[in-house]
Amino acid sequence: MSKPKTLSHLRAGVIGTGFIGPVHIEALKRLGVQVTAICGSTKNAQATAEKWGIPEVYGDYDYESMFRSPNVDVVHITSPNKVHVVQSLAALKAGKHVVCEKPLGMNSKETGRLVKAAAKSNRVFAVNYMCRFFPGVLQMREMVKRGDLGQIIHVQGHFFQDWLLQQTDYNWRLLASEGGKLRAVGDIGTHWIDAVSFVLGAKVESVFATLETFHKTRLRPKGEVQTFAKADPKTMVRYKVDTEDFASILLKFGKAKHRYVDGVHANASISQVAAGWKCSLAAGIYGTEGSVQWDLQHPNEIIVGRRDEPNQILQRGTAGFMEDVANFTDYPGGHPEGFPDSHKMHYRAVYEHIASGKRTPLLFATAEDGHHEVRLCEAILKSNEHQRWINV
Ligand SMILES: NC(=O)c1ccc[n+]([C@@H]2O[C@H](COP(=O)([O-])OP(=O)(O)OC[C@H]3O[C@@H](n4cnc5c(N)ncnc54)[C@H](O)[C@@H]3O)[C@@H](O)[C@H]2O)c1
Repeated sequence: MSKPKTLSHLRAGVIGTGFIGPVHIEALKRLGVQVTAICGSTKNAQATAEKWGIPEVYGDYDYESMFRSPNVDVVHITSPNKVHVVQSLAALKAGKHVVCEKPLGMNSKETGRLVKAAAKSNRVFAVNYMCRFFPGVLQMREMVKRGDLGQIIHVQGHFFQDWLLQQTDYNWRLLASEGGKLRAVGDIGTHWIDAVSFVLGAKVESVFATLETFHKTRLRPKGEVQTFAKADPKTMVRYKVDTEDFASILLKFGKAKHRYVDGVHANASISQVAAGWKCSLAAGIYGTEGSVQWDLQHPNEIIVGRRDEPNQILQRGTAGFMEDVANFTDYPGGHPEGFPDSHKMHYRAVYEHIASGKRTPLLFATAEDGHHEVRLCEAILKSNEHQRWINV
């Protein structure tokens, strides 16, 4: 179990008040971090401030004024993808540490600039690939590193959702101009790739992908709707869809620092139109001595498979999970933790890194990792276009 630590001297400012902004706020408050400022549309920023007791309110998306506040040490960017880079660059320039939502940007040219700015800044920069901080994912990583599964042969999995199944389902992510040229892959596929890369301790070197758009045209409301919210079909207009609904991706990983991963093959299916699946990031890691599987929809357990011994279900917060992993969970076994806790554990790691003067282990995704995911998206797009393997 983790030792209680206080992070209450650090102060956060959050940009964005939609679906994920309040997830950041809640996690920070649970950690004891002060949330001192909020930025968004004038109406929503005010309402969010009132709900959470946040003293400084910056309406009209005026993030630059928020960055001038002496009461903000760390900026959380939870706005739509197309403004991540411009807001991150401005935050670094103002001397703030940054936690930016994924994907890091719209293309690798802009995220490349951000990598350089983050390296020069002497500030901590994290990308919110928080799936790394589910204890199940951390446990799989330890098992791979320790050689429990032997030499890793291949990985298989998916990230499936169904919230964009209907033609009338709408969100800004559906528009390439708002979310980027890749939608399902950029939005959730990069979570899968980042989590699996983290477990293996290796980066993807090449990809072969097929993308498909089932709804070639969709209907959208005249105004904006918050993520996962339903719009009124009577007020809708038809538009041509320029992003994919699903993808099949083959990936080849490079060498890890340890000896158990070298040239691992993986295949992943990514879909936002898979009926019945709400948020299932699932991965199976298959080695010469055994396998391990985990699914975000059942985050408190992993399944260990052996050829000549009985399979096991190991539960978070019990002796089945290793001591290092226990530092990333607050409640005992049988008291489930999930999505909000993964954010909490991620921000704890980031804020402890800040508080320690960057001396704690760098487990979270950096600007470079976020940039790598965007480069991967571009390679996937190119592979789909040319139907061949593309090196990243
Ligand atoms: N890590 C995760 O698990 C996770 C989950 C969901 C979303 N996200 C990411 O978070 C970001 C936001 O997604 P969401 O689902 O909350 O979207 P959303 O549409 O629900 O909310 C976006 C918010 O940003 C605000 N906004 C729009 N333009 C802005 C601007 N120029 N400056 C400041 N704020 C602006 C909107 O008013 C809204 O409050 C996206 O990049 C998305 O990929 C990450």
